[in-house]
Amino acid sequence: MVIVDRKGPEAMNNPQEARKEQPSTYFVQDRDNQSEFDRLRVQDQMVTRGMGGILPEQPNPEKLRRILDVGCGTGGWLLETARTYPTIETLIGVDISAKMLEFAREQAQQQGVGTRVEFAQMDALRMLEFPTGYFSLVNARFSISYLRTWDWPKFVSELARVTRAGGIVRLTECGRLGGDSEALFSLDKLLLQAFFNAGHVFVEGDDTSLMVRMPELLSRQGVYNIQTRDYELRFPAGTPEGESYREDLRYGFRVSLPFLRKWVGVPKDYEQLYQQMLEETARQDFVGRLRLRTVWGTAPTHRKTQHVV
Ligand SMILES: C[S@@+](CC[C@H](N)C(=O)[O-])C[C@H]1O[C@@H](n2cnc3c(N)ncnc32)[C@H](O)[C@@H]1O
Repeated sequence: MVIVDRKGPEAMNNPQEARKEQPSTYFVQDRDNQSEFDRLRVQDQMVTRGMGGILPEQPNPEKLRRILDVGCGTGGWLLETARTYPTIETLIGVDISAKMLEFAREQAQQQGVGTRVEFAQMDALRMLEFPTGYFSLVNARFSISYLRTWDWPKFVSELARVTRAGGIVRLTECGRLGGDSEALFSLDKLLLQAFFNAGHVFVEGDDTSLMVRMPELLSRQGVYNIQTRDYELRFPAGTPEGESYREDLRYGFRVSLPFLRKWVGVPKDYEQLYQQMLEETARQDFVGRLRLRTVWGTAPTHRKTQHVV
Protein backbone atom coordinates (compact mmCIF):
# COMPACT_ATOMS: atom_id res chain seq x y z
CA MET A 1 0.00 0.00 0.00
CA VAL A 2 1.57 3.27 -1.07
CA ILE A 3 -0.74 6.24 -0.96
CA VAL A 4 1.92 8.84 -0.76
CA ASP A 5 4.93 9.13 -2.99
CA ARG A 6 6.73 11.89 -1.21
CA LYS A 7 10.26 12.73 -0.20
CA GLY A 8 11.56 9.68 1.63
CA PRO A 9 14.85 8.88 3.31
CA GLU A 10 16.68 9.52 0.01
CA ALA A 11 15.89 13.20 0.40
CA MET A 12 17.77 13.22 3.68
CA ASN A 13 20.90 11.95 1.94
CA ASN A 14 20.56 14.48 -0.81
CA PRO A 15 21.28 18.01 0.40
CA GLN A 16 19.59 19.54 -2.63
CA GLU A 17 16.34 17.72 -1.84
CA ALA A 18 16.59 18.65 1.82
CA ARG A 19 17.14 22.31 0.88
CA LYS A 20 13.83 22.33 -0.98
CA GLU A 21 11.97 22.36 2.35
CA GLN A 22 9.79 25.45 2.61
CA PRO A 23 10.27 28.00 5.37
CA SER A 24 7.70 27.32 8.05
CA THR A 25 5.55 29.19 10.55
CA TYR A 26 6.47 26.70 13.28
CA PHE A 27 7.64 28.29 16.53
CA VAL A 28 10.86 26.31 16.34
CA GLN A 29 12.55 27.85 13.38
CA ASP A 30 15.43 25.41 13.06
CA ARG A 31 13.42 22.25 12.62
CA ASP A 32 16.46 20.02 12.36
CA ASN A 33 17.54 21.07 15.83
CA GLN A 34 18.35 17.95 17.87
CA SER A 35 16.89 19.50 21.03
CA GLU A 36 13.54 20.01 19.34
CA PHE A 37 13.60 16.45 18.22
CA ASP A 38 14.28 15.28 21.81
CA ARG A 39 11.67 17.68 23.19
CA LEU A 40 8.94 16.31 20.94
CA ARG A 41 9.69 12.72 21.91
CA VAL A 42 9.47 13.57 25.61
CA GLN A 43 6.37 15.72 25.17
CA ASP A 44 4.52 13.17 23.07
CA GLN A 45 4.83 10.43 25.69
CA MET A 46 4.11 12.76 28.58
CA VAL A 47 0.93 14.10 26.99
CA THR A 48 -0.41 10.80 25.65
CA ARG A 49 0.13 9.15 29.02
CA GLY A 50 -1.37 12.09 30.90
CA MET A 51 -4.49 11.95 28.73
CA GLY A 52 -4.93 8.26 29.42
CA GLY A 53 -3.96 6.99 25.99
CA ILE A 54 -4.08 7.81 22.31
CA LEU A 55 -7.83 8.02 21.70
CA PRO A 56 -9.28 8.00 25.21
CA GLU A 57 -12.60 9.55 24.23
CA GLN A 58 -13.32 7.36 21.19
CA PRO A 59 -15.62 4.41 21.96
CA ASN A 60 -14.44 1.98 19.24
CA PRO A 61 -11.00 2.82 17.83
CA GLU A 62 -10.57 -0.81 16.68
CA LYS A 63 -13.29 -0.19 14.10
CA LEU A 64 -11.31 2.55 12.36
CA ARG A 65 -9.72 1.58 9.04
CA ARG A 66 -7.46 4.46 8.05
CA ILE A 67 -5.98 7.19 10.26
CA LEU A 68 -4.10 10.37 9.41
CA ASP A 69 -2.02 12.35 11.91
CA VAL A 70 -1.23 15.88 10.73
CA GLY A 71 1.94 17.51 12.10
CA CYS A 72 2.92 14.07 13.48
CA GLY A 73 6.42 15.06 14.66
CA THR A 74 8.48 12.00 15.57
CA GLY A 75 5.43 9.79 15.03
CA GLY A 76 4.96 8.63 18.64
CA TRP A 77 1.18 9.03 18.71
CA LEU A 78 0.66 7.26 15.37
CA LEU A 79 3.02 4.39 16.19
CA GLU A 80 1.34 3.80 19.53
CA THR A 81 -2.01 3.78 17.72
CA ALA A 82 -0.70 1.18 15.28
CA ARG A 83 0.61 -1.02 18.10
CA THR A 84 -2.52 -0.69 20.23
CA TYR A 85 -5.03 -1.36 17.44
CA PRO A 86 -3.69 -3.99 15.01
CA THR A 87 -7.05 -3.95 13.21
CA ILE A 88 -6.44 -0.44 11.84
CA GLU A 89 -5.25 -1.09 8.28
CA THR A 90 -3.47 2.11 7.30
CA LEU A 91 -1.92 4.86 9.43
CA ILE A 92 -0.27 7.87 7.78
CA GLY A 93 1.63 10.67 9.46
CA VAL A 94 2.52 13.92 7.71
CA ASP A 95 4.93 16.59 8.88
CA ILE A 96 6.97 19.37 7.31
CA SER A 97 10.22 18.15 8.87
CA ALA A 98 12.15 15.49 6.95
CA LYS A 99 14.26 14.74 10.01
CA MET A 100 11.25 13.94 12.21
CA LEU A 101 9.86 11.70 9.49
CA GLU A 102 13.11 9.86 8.97
CA PHE A 103 13.17 8.96 12.65
CA ALA A 104 9.47 8.02 12.59
CA ARG A 105 10.02 5.65 9.64
CA GLU A 106 12.89 3.92 11.43
CA GLN A 107 10.72 3.50 14.51
CA ALA A 108 7.90 2.01 12.44
CA GLN A 109 10.29 -0.63 11.10
CA GLN A 110 11.79 -1.36 14.51
CA GLN A 111 8.37 -1.69 16.12
CA GLY A 112 7.17 -4.09 13.44
CA VAL A 113 4.35 -1.87 12.16
CA GLY A 114 6.12 -0.69 8.99
CA THR A 115 3.68 -2.44 6.66
CA ARG A 116 0.70 -0.46 7.98
CA VAL A 117 2.36 2.87 8.82
CA GLU A 118 3.63 5.49 6.37
CA PHE A 119 5.13 8.92 6.85
CA ALA A 120 5.11 11.66 4.24
CA GLN A 121 6.57 15.13 4.07
CA MET A 122 3.77 17.62 3.56
CA ASP A 123 3.02 21.25 4.38
CA ALA A 124 -0.32 21.27 6.18
CA LEU A 125 -0.82 24.94 5.33
CA ARG A 126 -1.32 23.81 1.73
CA MET A 127 -3.58 21.06 0.41
CA LEU A 128 -3.33 17.67 2.06
CA GLU A 129 -2.37 15.39 -0.79
CA PHE A 130 -4.92 12.66 -0.20
CA PRO A 131 -8.18 11.70 -1.88
CA THR A 132 -11.40 13.19 -0.55
CA GLY A 133 -13.03 11.02 2.10
CA TYR A 134 -10.04 8.68 2.43
CA PHE A 135 -9.59 8.47 6.23
CA SER A 136 -11.85 7.22 9.03
CA LEU A 137 -10.21 9.54 11.56
CA VAL A 138 -7.95 12.56 11.14
CA ASN A 139 -6.00 13.75 14.15
CA ALA A 140 -4.01 16.95 14.74
CA ARG A 141 -2.37 17.81 18.07
CA PHE A 142 -0.74 21.11 18.99
CA SER A 143 -1.30 22.69 15.59
CA ILE A 144 -1.24 26.11 17.30
CA SER A 145 2.53 25.73 17.08
CA TYR A 146 2.44 26.46 13.33
CA LEU A 147 -1.06 27.73 12.48
CA ARG A 148 -1.87 31.41 12.54
CA THR A 149 -5.47 32.33 13.47
CA TRP A 150 -6.29 32.91 9.79
CA ASP A 151 -4.94 29.49 8.75
CA TRP A 152 -7.56 27.54 10.72
CA PRO A 153 -10.54 27.65 8.31
CA LYS A 154 -8.59 26.18 5.39
CA PHE A 155 -6.74 23.75 7.66
CA VAL A 156 -9.96 22.37 9.20
CA SER A 157 -11.67 22.26 5.83
CA GLU A 158 -8.81 20.13 4.49
CA LEU A 159 -8.98 17.81 7.53
CA ALA A 160 -12.74 17.44 6.94
CA ARG A 161 -12.27 16.91 3.20
CA VAL A 162 -9.89 13.98 3.57
CA THR A 163 -12.10 12.39 6.28
CA ARG A 164 -14.89 10.14 4.99
CA ALA A 165 -18.46 11.36 5.58
CA GLY A 166 -19.33 10.11 9.06
CA GLY A 167 -15.65 9.82 10.04
CA ILE A 168 -13.99 11.74 12.88
CA VAL A 169 -12.03 15.00 12.81
CA ARG A 170 -10.12 15.37 16.08
CA LEU A 171 -8.11 18.31 17.43
CA THR A 172 -6.13 18.62 20.66
CA GLU A 173 -4.67 21.93 21.86
CA CYS A 174 -3.15 23.19 25.11
CA GLY A 175 -2.99 26.25 27.31
CA ARG A 176 -0.02 27.78 29.12
CA LEU A 177 2.57 25.74 30.96
CA GLY A 178 1.84 26.32 34.64
CA GLY A 179 3.19 25.60 38.09
CA ASP A 180 4.41 27.49 41.10
CA SER A 181 7.50 29.09 39.55
CA GLU A 182 7.84 32.82 39.04
CA ALA A 183 10.48 32.37 36.37
CA LEU A 184 8.32 29.89 34.45
CA PHE A 185 5.44 32.34 34.65
CA SER A 186 7.61 35.12 33.14
CA LEU A 187 9.06 32.94 30.38
CA ASP A 188 5.70 31.52 29.47
CA LYS A 189 4.15 34.99 29.39
CA LEU A 190 6.86 36.02 26.96
CA LEU A 191 6.17 33.00 24.75
CA LEU A 192 2.43 33.69 24.78
CA GLN A 193 3.11 37.27 23.71
CA ALA A 194 5.35 36.06 20.88
CA PHE A 195 2.61 33.66 19.79
CA PHE A 196 0.12 36.52 19.79
CA ASN A 197 2.45 38.85 17.89
CA ALA A 198 3.10 36.11 15.32
CA GLY A 199 -0.65 35.63 14.84
CA HIS A 200 -1.09 32.20 16.47
CA VAL A 201 -3.26 33.38 19.40
CA PHE A 202 -6.69 34.99 18.98
CA VAL A 203 -6.73 37.28 22.04
CA GLU A 204 -3.69 39.02 23.51
CA GLY A 205 -2.65 37.52 26.86
CA ASP A 206 -5.31 34.78 26.70
CA ASP A 207 -3.90 31.27 26.40
CA THR A 208 -7.41 29.79 26.16
CA SER A 209 -8.45 31.84 23.14
CA LEU A 210 -7.87 28.98 20.70
CA MET A 211 -9.32 26.30 22.96
CA VAL A 212 -12.62 28.17 23.33
CA ARG A 213 -12.90 28.58 19.55
CA MET A 214 -12.16 24.97 18.60
CA PRO A 215 -15.79 23.81 18.44
CA GLU A 216 -16.71 26.78 16.24
CA LEU A 217 -13.68 26.26 13.99
CA LEU A 218 -14.93 22.72 13.34
CA SER A 219 -18.62 23.56 12.99
CA ARG A 220 -17.95 26.35 10.47
CA GLN A 221 -16.48 23.72 8.12
CA GLY A 222 -19.56 21.52 8.45
CA VAL A 223 -18.24 19.16 11.12
CA TYR A 224 -21.13 18.18 13.41
CA ASN A 225 -21.86 16.20 16.62
CA ILE A 226 -19.04 18.21 18.16
CA GLN A 227 -17.85 17.12 21.58
CA THR A 228 -15.24 18.40 23.97
CA ARG A 229 -13.07 16.80 26.64
CA ASP A 230 -10.86 18.85 28.97
CA TYR A 231 -7.79 17.72 30.84
CA GLU A 232 -5.89 19.28 33.77
CA LEU A 233 -2.62 17.38 33.79
CA ARG A 234 -0.34 17.50 36.84
CA PHE A 235 3.37 16.73 36.82
CA PRO A 236 4.81 16.56 40.37
CA ALA A 237 8.59 17.06 40.72
CA GLY A 238 10.47 13.88 41.54
CA THR A 239 8.17 11.65 39.47
CA PRO A 240 8.92 10.46 35.92
CA GLU A 241 6.10 12.75 34.72
CA GLY A 242 7.62 15.71 36.56
CA GLU A 243 11.00 14.96 34.98
CA SER A 244 9.43 14.90 31.51
CA TYR A 245 7.70 18.20 32.16
CA ARG A 246 10.98 19.80 33.20
CA GLU A 247 12.76 18.34 30.16
CA ASP A 248 10.06 19.78 27.92
CA LEU A 249 10.65 23.22 29.49
CA ARG A 250 14.43 22.86 29.42
CA TYR A 251 14.44 22.18 25.68
CA GLY A 252 11.44 24.36 24.87
CA PHE A 253 12.84 27.65 26.17
CA ARG A 254 16.05 27.03 24.23
CA VAL A 255 14.65 25.99 20.86
CA SER A 256 12.07 28.82 20.83
CA LEU A 257 14.74 31.53 21.27
CA PRO A 258 14.90 32.59 17.57
CA PHE A 259 11.09 32.81 17.52
CA LEU A 260 11.08 34.90 20.70
CA ARG A 261 13.80 37.16 19.28
CA LYS A 262 11.81 37.70 16.12
CA TRP A 263 8.37 38.29 17.60
CA VAL A 264 8.76 39.82 21.04
CA GLY A 265 12.43 40.40 21.85
CA VAL A 266 14.48 38.57 24.45
CA PRO A 267 15.02 40.41 27.76
CA LYS A 268 18.61 40.90 28.96
CA ASP A 269 18.00 38.67 31.98
CA TYR A 270 16.65 35.79 29.87
CA GLU A 271 19.49 33.42 30.79
CA GLN A 272 19.04 34.21 34.47
CA LEU A 273 15.28 33.60 34.21
CA TYR A 274 15.95 30.35 32.39
CA GLN A 275 18.30 29.10 35.13
CA GLN A 276 15.87 30.23 37.82
CA MET A 277 13.08 28.34 36.05
CA LEU A 278 15.21 25.17 36.06
CA GLU A 279 15.86 25.58 39.80
CA GLU A 280 12.26 26.34 40.73
CA THR A 281 10.84 23.47 38.71
CA ALA A 282 13.26 21.03 40.40
CA ARG A 283 11.99 21.89 43.90
CA GLN A 284 10.34 19.02 45.74
CA ASP A 285 7.02 20.78 46.05
CA PHE A 286 6.82 21.93 42.42
CA VAL A 287 3.88 20.58 40.43
CA GLY A 288 3.80 21.32 36.70
CA ARG A 289 0.39 21.88 35.15
CA LEU A 290 -0.97 21.71 31.66
CA ARG A 291 -4.52 22.27 30.45
CA LEU A 292 -5.53 20.40 27.33
CA ARG A 293 -8.71 20.29 25.30
CA THR A 294 -9.70 17.66 22.75
CA VAL A 295 -12.55 18.60 20.41
CA TRP A 296 -13.88 16.12 17.88
CA GLY A 297 -16.82 15.78 15.58
CA THR A 298 -18.27 13.99 12.56
CA ALA A 299 -17.15 14.90 9.06
CA PRO A 300 -19.95 15.99 6.71
CA THR A 301 -20.94 14.63 3.31
CA HIS A 302 -18.54 15.97 0.72
CA ARG A 303 -19.67 18.77 -1.53
CA LYS A 304 -17.57 20.80 -3.92
CA THR A 305 -17.61 23.89 -1.73
CA GLN A 306 -14.81 26.17 -0.59
CA HIS A 307 -13.89 26.41 3.07
CA VAL A 308 -15.89 28.94 5.06
CA VAL A 309 -13.77 31.77 6.43
C1 LIG B 1 4.32 20.81 18.55
S1 LIG B 1 4.77 19.61 17.36
C2 LIG B 1 3.51 18.39 17.66
C3 LIG B 1 3.87 17.02 17.20
C4 LIG B 1 2.78 15.97 17.45
N1 LIG B 1 1.54 16.34 16.80
C5 LIG B 1 2.52 15.77 18.92
O1 LIG B 1 1.47 16.15 19.40
O2 LIG B 1 3.40 15.21 19.57
C6 LIG B 1 4.26 20.30 15.83
C7 LIG B 1 4.75 19.55 14.61
O3 LIG B 1 4.25 20.22 13.46
C8 LIG B 1 5.23 20.20 12.45
N2 LIG B 1 4.95 21.29 11.51
C9 LIG B 1 5.28 22.60 11.60
N3 LIG B 1 4.81 23.29 10.54
C10 LIG B 1 4.16 22.39 9.76
C11 LIG B 1 3.46 22.48 8.53
N4 LIG B 1 3.32 23.66 7.89
N5 LIG B 1 2.94 21.37 8.00
C12 LIG B 1 3.07 20.16 8.62
N6 LIG B 1 3.71 20.01 9.81
C13 LIG B 1 4.24 21.11 10.37
C14 LIG B 1 6.54 20.35 13.19
O4 LIG B 1 7.64 19.88 12.41
C15 LIG B 1 6.27 19.51 14.43
O5 LIG B 1 6.67 18.19 14.24
